[in-house]
Amino acid sequence: MVKVSEFVKFMDNIFKINYFTDIVKNGLVLSLDLQRRINRVGLAVDLTPFVLRKLIQKNFDFLILHHSPMHRGLERITPPKSNIIETVLNKKISIYVSHLPMDCHKKFGHSHILAKKLNLTESKPFPSKKEPFGVIGKFKSDLKKLENLLDSILSTKAKKILNSPTELKKLAIVSGAGGSLIDAAIEQGANLFITGEIKYSDFINSLENNISVWLYGHHNTELLGLFELSRHLKRKFDFEVVEVIECEIASQC
Ligand SMILES: [Fe+2]
Repeated sequence: MVKVSEFVKFMDNIFKINYFTDIVKNGLVLSLDLQRRINRVGLAVDLTPFVLRKLIQKNFDFLILHHSPMHRGLERITPPKSNIIETVLNKKISIYVSHLPMDCHKKFGHSHILAKKLNLTESKPFPSKKEPFGVIGKFKSDLKKLENLLDSILSTKAKKILNSPTELKKLAIVSGAGGSLIDAAIEQGANLFITGEIKYSDFINSLENNISVWLYGHHNTELLGLFELSRHLKRKFDFEVVEVIECEIASQC
């Protein structure tokens, strides 16, 4: 069985965590014992109460998160956050975070996976070379086919802002909360924007710029990379369990 320290090295090597300037700390963020052997690995978008219960019920000893459990910073560790962290430490569960490094990863980035599944042509990462967490490209078939494919890949129906474009030029994909990239997508010729959620001001921006936006949920659009990573870990290690744990609000957000 692999030790926490060895597994962290393996993960750091995949995600190149020091390369990115992120709003949260990536890499190993919580562990009591780096020499502890790992056998049961969970993957989740967030450490919600339901995910925590599952970790305990199924005796997981390592959790890979997309969103940091300390997403608001480390200045106050008080209840209920301190209760969650206390439970994690008592159960000797180590937590590893891959946020932006996962988003930007060609193999494990949610948007990149979705673009591949849609077989986008002329696809390219955007908005920048250093942090390409979105993908822009062309879809070779009609809009109905695109919608059916997305509904099936993401197991839900989109909430649509503005009618679908009559003629699809380019589409941009940004998993999670992608509203800040709507302008960049327009600049690069997209008239359809696919993301998880947007803010009210982004909603107004999309109306002003006449770009259609399809929302498939923040949590929902950020499971793809976790499933891909879980398959990779199963191939690379002989863990007893590797499992993606969907949170209790998965179908609503
Ligand atoms: Fe996210």
